[in-house]
Amino acid sequence: MKKEKIEIEFSVYSSSDELQENDKILLEKARAATAMAYAPYSNFKVAAVAILSNGEMVEGTNQENASTPAGLCAERVMLASASMLHPNTIIETIAISYNNLNGSSNEPATPCGICRQSLQEYEDRLQHPIRLILGGQEGAVYVFEKSTSLLPLAFNGKDLIRS
Ligand code: THU
Repeated sequence: MKKEKIEIEFSVYSSSDELQENDKILLEKARAATAMAYAPYSNFKVAAVAILSNGEMVEGTNQENASTPAGLCAERVMLASASMLHPNTIIETIAISYNNLNGSSNEPATPCGICRQSLQEYEDRLQHPIRLILGGQEGAVYVFEKSTSLLPLAFNGKDLIRS
């Protein structure tokens, strides 16, 4: 028997003012795009804005439903749009922000488990790391150099085709 240890690495900025200019602009877009969320049940508005290798930006916001499981997270709305509008195009960076209408939005919120799985599929498919910039409307910002850092030992297609 041996023990394994997995560590993840990310950068913590005390505010978006410390970010490099392009990252700051992307996070500002995500902060603003939260207004486009449809979240009448949770009042938790999320937005994901991606910059692609072709220079295009793709946005997504959460879309809730009275039948709760029919709701969609912002990240997966954005990923589906990116895949459809710009097939086989690398996603360089995604900024994710939120606005909690019931409380404060002053620290980063990290993507849910299902979105982490979808992010890792995109990275795997395009064979390119996706940077993540996570921040609320204000406060500290986390930057991950690859989204798979958030899902160690992820399930992926390799397991399906193993003979
Ligand atoms: N939500 C997202 O859009 N992304 C996440 O990664 C976490 C949660 C949404 C889903 C739901 O509409 C609301 O936030 C509260 O869970």
